[in-house]
Amino acid sequence: MKVLVVGSGGREHAIVRALARSPQSPQLLCAPGNPGIAADATLVDVAVTDTDGLVAAAQEHDVDLVVVGPEVPLVAGLVDALAAVGRRAFGPIAAAARMEGSKEYAKEVMEAAGVPTASWTAVDDVEAGLAAITGYPTVLKFDGLAAGKGVVIAPDEAAAREALEAFLVERRYGDGRVVVEEFLVGEELSLLALCDGERAVALAPAQDYKRIFDGDQGPNTGGMGSYSPVAGVDAALVQRIVREIHQPVIDELARRGTPFHGVLYAGLMLTAAGPKVIEFNARFGDPETQAVLPRLRSDLLEHLLRAVEPGGLDGIALEWDDGWAVTLVLASAGYPEAPRTGDPITGLDAAAATGVEITHAGTRAVDGAIVTAGGRVLNVTALGPDAAAARSAAYAAAEHIAFAGRQQRSDIALRAVERSAHP
Ligand code: AMP
Ligand code: GLY
Repeated sequence: MKVLVVGSGGREHAIVRALARSPQSPQLLCAPGNPGIAADATLVDVAVTDTDGLVAAAQEHDVDLVVVGPEVPLVAGLVDALAAVGRRAFGPIAAAARMEGSKEYAKEVMEAAGVPTASWTAVDDVEAGLAAITGYPTVLKFDGLAAGKGVVIAPDEAAAREALEAFLVERRYGDGRVVVEEFLVGEELSLLALCDGERAVALAPAQDYKRIFDGDQGPNTGGMGSYSPVAGVDAALVQRIVREIHQPVIDELARRGTPFHGVLYAGLMLTAAGPKVIEFNARFGDPETQAVLPRLRSDLLEHLLRAVEPGGLDGIALEWDDGWAVTLVLASAGYPEAPRTGDPITGLDAAAATGVEITHAGTRAVDGAIVTAGGRVLNVTALGPDAAAARSAAYAAAEHIAFAGRQQRSDIALRAVERSAHP
């Protein structure tokens, strides 16, 4: 069995690692990968945006399955292009990946499916946007992909006007409308589900940390850490969320003739009125995946192969480690505004020797040394019997790793530890 993973970040490294644990002992390839992934898979030098090149690589290497990590190739139709040449791929077709590619489309599907979400209006000019706001703070979202930067929480009218102008007049992320959305209050939860076109099967719940600084201060990032499971999110709540949120969306997309295969990631707010959707992604989350997959005890490869077949997840049982996983993100100097690259990294072997899983997110090999090559540089994931043990193992391992300007939050999973101490 040959599997090609598409992507080059920490999420893809975690997927490669989980596939390497499969009893089917697959031969693993990754395009384009990174120096960390190179230790676990054969790298194929094709960019994630090069759909033709990826199809050609899948053909040339005669792969049995392509697993697509990031959203950009999904929205661009990589899975459709692979299907056209008869290659099996894990991930939604472009028409289903619109659940992530267009916020307005996702809202429209949720409305049709009766899925609870923040109330909303889509607008295409600044005055209409301001008129649609019912109170502050308010949430303004660029309709298309914006690498996590298309969401503004505006505390007042001046900030709302500024954001609407950036999106609709300056066209900072290109052409596209803006969704004006009600501000939801509560705790956030990431619940990812494997989908086979007909049904959704939840993965273990996780939380991520979006802001750069401790205490959720500073600008949004791609994610500064994560952990799994989540205190208070028991099996009954997970079942309820799948029943009220994932499954109706899967049913609605099937009804539209665009069945969703892959991971449907629901970003949720647990509000006083119940769970409501903040956003959908059409792929594994980053860095949630780095905390979730190390806890999976059953065979990820088997699960992904089943999800590709219509109704293939029927009767599936996922098995999870009872313990906790905590993932820290080590980010570069200047992240998220202007990440600096090229800083040499030391201590990787010493950190790995403590038994944690180190995944590479933004690294490059230069003359035999590993240097920083992106905003999020490395992830350190530790497992432990409880949140406190996993958390201290992750922080102890991360201390070995050094590079100039390294940024790391010191409060990842602190909430989980405090809750376990005072349930
Ligand atoms: P998104 O890119 O849609 O995940 O939004 C980024 C972050 O903005 C989310 O993780 C939330 O913290 C926040 N956010 C987005 N939409 C809302 C909302 N309707 N109410 C409150 N916070 C939100
Ligand atoms: N952790 C958020 C995301 O993957 O989009």
